[in-house]
Amino acid sequence: MPKPPDTAIPSPHFASPPSVSPLSAAGDRHFDGMAEKFAESLYGGARGELRLALLDRLLPEMLALHGQPLLDVGGGLGQLASWFAGRGHAVTLVEPSGEMLSRARASLEGSEIAFLQAPLQSLPDAAPGPWALIACHAVLEWLADPRAALATLAGQLAPGGQLSLMVFNRDALRFSNVVKGNLEKALADRLAGKGQRRRLTPISPLTHAQVVEWSAELGLEVRAVAGVRIFHDYLRRPPESDADRETLLELEWCYCRFDPHWRLGRYLLYTLVRPDDSAPSAEEHGT
Ligand SMILES: C[S@@+](CC[C@H](N)C(=O)[O-])C[C@H]1O[C@@H](n2cnc3c(N)ncnc32)[C@H](O)[C@@H]1O
Repeated sequence: MPKPPDTAIPSPHFASPPSVSPLSAAGDRHFDGMAEKFAESLYGGARGELRLALLDRLLPEMLALHGQPLLDVGGGLGQLASWFAGRGHAVTLVEPSGEMLSRARASLEGSEIAFLQAPLQSLPDAAPGPWALIACHAVLEWLADPRAALATLAGQLAPGGQLSLMVFNRDALRFSNVVKGNLEKALADRLAGKGQRRRLTPISPLTHAQVVEWSAELGLEVRAVAGVRIFHDYLRRPPESDADRETLLELEWCYCRFDPHWRLGRYLLYTLVRPDDSAPSAEEHGT
């Protein structure tokens, strides 16, 4: 029997090269290959503008700020680092993705910010504390083990130190899926992303209950909480005029720290504090 020619249609098994997982060895989604999409679809539009406008108002209210050095973990494109640097904080931005880091460097050129390419898990060696102020915004939800990551952050805090933590809210993700008509997906609780390709659905969205439980385990006090984008992501029509965008910002601002609204913010923003056992108690003060 004649041998079939080599040009035979290839078996589907060999049709495409094996796919390389975009996840890190630890199972985290570093943003290499995602920087452009992230910059455009988040910070390039109304959602990003609103997030930054709310943080601009919330951070001075939720944190005691007096120019202390800041460690920005998973600092991404550097918007938060730039905000703190503009207020006189010496900022160290830590980010594992070379692509995100080089964009941050380019856009913050001329600033005093120190840049460090490293994952959160290496902080004890790469940027050892204790730090009086750490920010970690929208990072834990991209990690395989966010609970361990919170423990690492807590370990770098100085006594009395503050952690500004922002996480992607799993309950809000469910709600927005229902609003969009993804009923089966919501009922099956298939909410988390897989971290494949360039999808921006986080692999580990978190609940408020988890943050409260893990903070208690780590001895961190939950000093303040707010919802970021409590209305915007559920709107049927995004505001079209500047006046409407301004009104929406005021609405978000009015209710972002009030029950029940903050609980459905797309992000939950916390101030977590490591108690300072050496500080004199109220009794010692005689108050
Ligand atoms: C949604 S972006 C948030 C960026 C920035 N913090 C912000 O709020 O705009 C998530 C960032 O977490 C980074 N990231 C992923 N895994 C990480 C890890 N293990 N340690 C530190 N950062 C990580 C990603 O590379 C990405 O830059």
